[in-house]
Amino acid sequence: MTPTHLAYIVSAALFAVGLKRMSSPATARQGNLLSAVGMLVAVVFTLARAGLDYRWIAVGVAAGSLVGIVTALKVQMTSMPEMVALFNGSGGLASLLVGWAEFNGQPGPHAVPFLVAVVLTILIGGVTFTGSVIAWGKLSGKVYSGPVTFPGQQVVNGVFLLAVVTLGVLFCVQFGGGGTWRLMGPNTYIYLFVFGAQLLGVMAVIAIGGADMPVVISLLNSYSGLAACAAGFVIDSSILVVAGAFVGASGLILTSIMCKAMNRSLANVLFGGFGVADSSSGGGTEQGEAQAASAQDAYYVLEAAQSIAFVPGYGMAAAQAQHAVRELGDLLEANGAEVQFAVHPVAGRMPGHMNVLLAEANVSYEKFIEMDDINPIIESVDVCVVIGANDVVNPAARDDASSSIYGMPIIEVDRARNVFVLKRSMASGFAGISNPLFYKANTKMIFGDAKATIETLVEEFKAS
Ligand code: TAP
Repeated sequence: MTPTHLAYIVSAALFAVGLKRMSSPATARQGNLLSAVGMLVAVVFTLARAGLDYRWIAVGVAAGSLVGIVTALKVQMTSMPEMVALFNGSGGLASLLVGWAEFNGQPGPHAVPFLVAVVLTILIGGVTFTGSVIAWGKLSGKVYSGPVTFPGQQVVNGVFLLAVVTLGVLFCVQFGGGGTWRLMGPNTYIYLFVFGAQLLGVMAVIAIGGADMPVVISLLNSYSGLAACAAGFVIDSSILVVAGAFVGASGLILTSIMCKAMNRSLANVLFGGFGVADSSSGGGTEQGEAQAASAQDAYYVLEAAQSIAFVPGYGMAAAQAQHAVRELGDLLEANGAEVQFAVHPVAGRMPGHMNVLLAEANVSYEKFIEMDDINPIIESVDVCVVIGANDVVNPAARDDASSSIYGMPIIEVDRARNVFVLKRSMASGFAGISNPLFYKANTKMIFGDAKATIETLVEEFKAS
């Protein structure tokens, strides 16, 4: 066993331990660091191979580092999903280029497994690249975020996929079979794969609405891993195969967790055309007047409450209210109340969004309560304080079969004794639908920026 092989085993172990540690907020940072060290070890030992021309590698490292550092420093926490989409796309494109370059650089005849790996690398990499670019466009509002559909779309996509796969089989048979027949030259095949994969990526993602983009992004994350894994076979790099397989598998697991959180099947997400803004479903003005309250009104209720559950959503991230929320939580506890943080799995705009923000504000993990744990006891909660959340507490998902989010599990704050909803207006959330919660008798709306409202409450408690 060479030192490089040994280093790869160490890297793979660091990836595995790092991933495991990422599954809990308490150890996630350490997990991230361990995995990054694993990757550094893999890169250093790969580059230490004799006979490499380092000039282009240095240019690539410098350009990539510069882009990475600048974007990481500039990106807002709320734009992280868009950034992840672009990272996935870059991974897909890199794999596509590796597969293509390696095929061009190797003189034939080629073995069939090599050709299969080349085809898979180009196809999966290409789908990941354009699919991610469209997902980024939809999330950032640069392209229309609703599903773009037309009659017979799934049949067209299916036929198209079949055509690309058939071409892939012909390519492998023609250049790996040792036969003499020629349908077309190798470059024509490769151009067709590159073009076909990119088109497939666009076709697959335009049909999916913006509300399902989180699921699509984690699926594309998985694809980028699979493309890297295939590229590992192309260039005969065991560590790339391992790293790609980790990304592919963890992306699939995340996709499945998110589908479960939204009560959707993956097939339903991919082919269902969900996510059309639907302002009629879930009720609207016909439900009566929403009751507004001031922060001072809320103070008197909170001051007397024994149990309080904060339910954060995207608006808490937008307002950057997490530190003020933690301070209010501490004051409420000092006042003798039990305080919990009920976090919905798809609250915010990325998996774990609320957990990251609250952890940043030093909210201890014991105070977090899962949706499935709070719902059975929510009737006994004195006050639910909904901080910039909307879709994840929308009772239409439970009660209104005509709602586009019907079936998505929610935190059922409407069953608590009192509900305060902190948001700036009656506007809808990500799914674009109205929310019957705002009109319930036990709900009071506190209009305004969430951070400003929470800070007023903090002041009230400090002054008392
Ligand atoms: P949303 O349903 O998007 O609602 C967020 C609410 O925050 C809005 O209604 C908005 O109302 C309010 N808001 C915005 N800025 C605010 C501020 N400065 N102060 C106070 N309120 C503010 O959020 P949610 O309940 O967290 O649900 C998440 C949605 O995003 C789901 O539909 C989910 O499927 C989707 N999604 C999730 C992810 C992941 S993985 N978490 C990724 C992408 C999409 P006002 O404008 O009236 O203030």
